Amino acid sequence: METMLSASRALLACPLCRGGFLPGAADGGGLVCDAGHSFDAAKQGYINLLTGKGTVFESDSADMVAARHDFLSASHYRPLADALAEFAAAALTGAGGGAAGEASTAEGAPEAGPAILDAGTGTGHYLRAVLDRVPAAAVGLDISKFALRRAARLNPGAANLVADIWQPLPVRDAAVDVVMVVFAPRNAAEFARVLRPGGRLIVVTPRPGHLTEVAGTTGMLGIEPAKEERLAAGLAGHFTALPGREVDIALDLTPDDVVKLALMGPAGHHLDRASLQETRARLASRTAVTARFRISVFTPLEREQRPEPRPAGG
Ligand SMILES: C[S@@+](CC[C@H](N)C(=O)[O-])C[C@H]1O[C@@H](n2cnc3c(N)ncnc32)[C@H](O)[C@@H]1O
Ligand SMILES: [Zn+2]
Repeated sequence: METMLSASRALLACPLCRGGFLPGAADGGGLVCDAGHSFDAAKQGYINLLTGKGTVFESDSADMVAARHDFLSASHYRPLADALAEFAAAALTGAGGGAAGEASTAEGAPEAGPAILDAGTGTGHYLRAVLDRVPAAAVGLDISKFALRRAARLNPGAANLVADIWQPLPVRDAAVDVVMVVFAPRNAAEFARVLRPGGRLIVVTPRPGHLTEVAGTTGMLGIEPAKEERLAAGLAGHFTALPGREVDIALDLTPDDVVKLALMGPAGHHLDRASLQETRARLASRTAVTARFRISVFTPLEREQRPEPRPAGG
């Protein structure tokens, strides 16, 4: 475990000077970079690498994170986790033509072993599914401390970091074979920068019709499913698309499950908790709901084909 954690930490770059971190933990398990910038570890095991003001954001609250944890732990989305782990495993082992096989020759790659970044890792549920299939150095990054407390417990061999996806990521250039983004923001330039040549960006988005059976009753309406074209447009200039997959899951949910489902998504930020409980009381003992996802896979364009990177450390 300690070795895997060291391999995970070797993927990191200091958010202040972009230098690497010294091997071996600082006192209390924190990080110290070559230039002496130090970052403490929280007692729950994650490390806060957020510097400066960061983007204005609304971090997931404790009850949203708890709902996500409970719902995912009950394996409702198991088919999605399995499909995702299959795509990621292929790229991590080189079986899918990914970067792992050629990693040792990749310029600037700090580690030759398989490596993955989970951007917006949340409770670390999907990263766990991947690591159960292929042990790998891993970075789990999220802006919510509540989420990272869970992620650090679930994935103790990963570097679990508080960081903002919209800022330069605290990850070295060409360091990972896979960037995984499950219902989280996408920073195309930074994802391309941290991927090894031939690596894979794996993105999960909801498709039209996702959870429509309960969206209206629970106040989830208004979540516009991410359109495939919008996803591709946001990544254009940095990535080219590869074949992906659609995953549909027929769910049979109790009223408790439905409430958790409503709370764990973006609507959880503004849903009125009292009226959600009233809705819960009106629900049938079981509700049939269909979850509709798309797994999209991309590979980075060669560096010369991409726009000039922004100055580092900004
Ligand atoms: C809907 S949750 C998905 C979490 C996880 N991938 C999963 O599927 O269980 C979205 C996650 O993205 C995180 N997030 C949102 N904006 C972010 C940002 N700018 N930087 C880092 N994480 C962010 C949230 O804190 C939240 O954990
Ligand atoms: Zn530094």
